[in-house]
Amino acid sequence: MGIKELQDEILRLKNEKDICILAHAYQAREITEIADFTGDSYGLSVEASKAPQKTIIMCGVRFMAETVKILSPEKMVYLANPLAGCPMADQMDKELIEQVKQQYPDYTVVCYINTSTELKTVCDVCVTSSSAVKIVDKLPNKNILFIPDKQLGAWVAKQLPEKNFKLLQGGCPTHLRAGMREVRKTKTLHPEALLLVHPECLSDVTESADFVGSTTAIMNYAINSDAKEFIIGTELSILGHLQYECPEKDFYPLSIDLVCHNMKVTTLTDVLNCVKGTGGEVIELDEETRLKAKNCIDRMIELG
Ligand code: 13P
Ligand code: SF4
Repeated sequence: MGIKELQDEILRLKNEKDICILAHAYQAREITEIADFTGDSYGLSVEASKAPQKTIIMCGVRFMAETVKILSPEKMVYLANPLAGCPMADQMDKELIEQVKQQYPDYTVVCYINTSTELKTVCDVCVTSSSAVKIVDKLPNKNILFIPDKQLGAWVAKQLPEKNFKLLQGGCPTHLRAGMREVRKTKTLHPEALLLVHPECLSDVTESADFVGSTTAIMNYAINSDAKEFIIGTELSILGHLQYECPEKDFYPLSIDLVCHNMKVTTLTDVLNCVKGTGGEVIELDEETRLKAKNCIDRMIELG
């Protein structure tokens, strides 16, 4: 089957069985084309909480599918490809954070949504890249323990100097591949281009950027900007989507190493197998764990 035939068959079965397909913005174009909604982690969690369908297929990584299940336990939630994890989400576990919390008892624990459901059970509030500054700003406590992404935490801390941040040593292996060497090289090659980066990038990279934002925010910025050239400092698929959205503009990668293999593992065939009911992984969560983890996601939606 070719791409078009696969897409048509997925759409036919999806409509027949009333299934909702959610795709993260890092998914390949052929997948975002058949999705009901494509967006950043925050958009996906909001969309998941209001989707009317009883079956949801997540084309993204595991923590995204778990977030859908946490919010909608009555729904059948599939992770389209069970191999799609997020290395950052596995960098810290519940036991480690429980120990750290004992050292900092008067700190509010803010966790990036890129964490496991288990880890969320010991955190106070969840954030995404697009909602982190707004949410942390609204927290009454001045003392913030931000996990697991040190880069995102440092970027949020810079916007909120009145708060007192403790950061741990975690981060996204993909975004950490681009440093100042790549910034200097691409800026020399494209002096007119604006540099748009994700806050998971290294601090000196975010400091030299013209715009820092979530995957969706980077896309919206480039689409709405009057500028004609952009250096994109996030996963390469965003550059690909932007080329489709704005064929009259030029987009350059900050580094061609900005590839998240976990986001790339999902194929149209995986999605077809999910809509047929013969593939993917059905997400199951222990009810007590789900309810504890839900507290910090509910707080995120309430404050965000
Ligand atoms: P966004 O919330 O910006 O989509 O980021 C998710 C992610 O995993 C980025 O690496
Ligand atoms: Fe995780 Fe980084 Fe991939 Fe995002 S890009 S899913 S943070 S490994």
